[in-house]
Amino acid sequence: MCGIVGYLGKQQAAPILLDGLSKLEYRGYDSAGICVFAENRFCVEKTKGRLSALSELTEVGTTLPGTMGIGHTRWATHGAPSQINSHPHVSTNGKICVVHNGIIENYQSLKSYLMEQGKTFVSETDTEVAANLLELYYEEEGDLLQAAFRARETLVGSYALGILCIDQPDSILAMKKESPLIFGFGEGENFIASDAPAILKYTRKVVYLNNGDMVRFTKDSAVFYNALGEECVREPELITWEMTAAEKGGYPHFMLKEIHEQPKALRDTLHPRMKDGQVCLEGLTLTEDYLRNIRRIYIVACGSAYYVGCVGKYILEKTCRIPVEPVLASEFRYCEPVLGDDTLVIIISQSGETADTLAALRESRSLGARTLAIVNVVGSAISKEADDVIYTWAGPEIAVATTKAYSTQLSVLYLIALYMGKLLGTWVGEAYEQMYRALTQLPEAMEQMLTCDCLKHIEDHAEALCRKHDVFFIGRNTDSATCLEGSLKLKEIAYVHSEAYAAGELKHGPISLIEQDTLVIALATMEALFEKTLSNMEEVKARGAHVLAVTTEETAGKLKKAADRVILVPRTHPLLQPSLSVIPLQIFSYYVALKRGCDVDKPRNLAKSVTVE
Ligand code: F6R
Repeated sequence: MCGIVGYLGKQQAAPILLDGLSKLEYRGYDSAGICVFAENRFCVEKTKGRLSALSELTEVGTTLPGTMGIGHTRWATHGAPSQINSHPHVSTNGKICVVHNGIIENYQSLKSYLMEQGKTFVSETDTEVAANLLELYYEEEGDLLQAAFRARETLVGSYALGILCIDQPDSILAMKKESPLIFGFGEGENFIASDAPAILKYTRKVVYLNNGDMVRFTKDSAVFYNALGEECVREPELITWEMTAAEKGGYPHFMLKEIHEQPKALRDTLHPRMKDGQVCLEGLTLTEDYLRNIRRIYIVACGSAYYVGCVGKYILEKTCRIPVEPVLASEFRYCEPVLGDDTLVIIISQSGETADTLAALRESRSLGARTLAIVNVVGSAISKEADDVIYTWAGPEIAVATTKAYSTQLSVLYLIALYMGKLLGTWVGEAYEQMYRALTQLPEAMEQMLTCDCLKHIEDHAEALCRKHDVFFIGRNTDSATCLEGSLKLKEIAYVHSEAYAAGELKHGPISLIEQDTLVIALATMEALFEKTLSNMEEVKARGAHVLAVTTEETAGKLKKAADRVILVPRTHPLLQPSLSVIPLQIFSYYVALKRGCDVDKPRNLAKSVTVE
């Protein structure tokens, strides 16, 4: 949700800023801008549209001199995407220039106040308020750092801010509250960025700033300040993953690459934690006594991560015999959840920065529940604030639509199910061993589904069906939860209206929408419930639907005339089946999007990391 980058060193800043922004475009891509400090003035270039437009405008940054600058790629919140609303924003008297990720919640009252003080505004953004507030305080204090400390007290909301001051040609100031911000140490050059890929080409040594932190840096030094305004030490961490992990590596799209990376991501997430028949969740501070006393589990997340929770409900209830309730993070805080010290709240988030999910985590902790976060990004806000963290080792996920993060999140829930089931004595003996064995083999099973032939087969279905405009996904049990994710994928990247229903629910209303040739994608991978889903397929078929069935080889023979098309998935342990069933749905959406000419990696109106409520 907006990406920011800053550079101060010996090299020309603009090309480095543009390069950094190109790695952050997943955070927002409706407009982009940069400001460099050169010849004692701010040179700002910004434009509506993709980063490529800015790159063209500045001849890949070469037309802008200067060795210090800040850049921004935007996902509009306040004010439509336009040149005027694009960042960076310069204050009224031209003293301050800022890029911002987040939302200033009290911007309206501040704007009125600042206008009374003679400040003027040209954009509709909340960010311009931050620029003018800093300028006002700077004029009053005569010192940028003091001005920033004061601004921090005044600004309500979330921000990662990169700040240039016209009187400070050798330093950049950056501050963070809620929105992500990292600082990168280089040799004779230093960086700030919303996320590591933006600066990984130049340095691996980074500090993930804490909430309330500020850093003032030159090309050779950096001074950190904590939330109390005290100078403090922030130890750098080394990023261990390779830059190639954040590049397309020969694939036409990140999404396709990430679909293919799923077996590896699963291996990395599962195998180090599975040894000699035991699940080892290293570093977990949850005691056995605590786990034995849990009476209820909430799984709280947004979007696809929430759908992982919907699958997780079936898995954990079956293995642990504890009631599990998946709740949307955006609703959680407002539904007065019944929490206490016998409640475990599992928080799921790829980015670890999603505003609603972070708020739900804080709410849970304040109400006395234990929190266990499943997170992909090391150093993210959720990973820092949860009582316990289990990382999904999916590597950087760049495509806006999640695939490998979804799969690894689900795999962590399997680990938790095995771990807790054994501990509680509810999932032991043969039941435990069969599931454990199948889980170790899951990455190979997934690999079988990613061969060229399998992809081609699904692409052919996509080619034939890509012009359908209303699609229904139906399934039972975990299949119904997987349908939710399949339907979201189709909506978000292919812009096809689709709905997901528990198969038995259709005849209670939605079946009236089925007409000649309506596409129904029926997931029937649960052997025990196959006949039931088959009946539901026949019901829609009888009303003219075109049915694409996703099932296993073992049951495909029973489909007879209930399906017009079939996609086969390998059979695995019933509780793990959702991990395989979702794969063809990801691939199908990918190809439908492609055939419809959509921008697969950067779907309209979306951003990868949703740091606003
Ligand atoms: C859909 C998708 C989103 C995210 C959701 C939560 O493909 O990616 O629905 O799952 O925005 O994001 P995280 O997991 O970063 O909290």
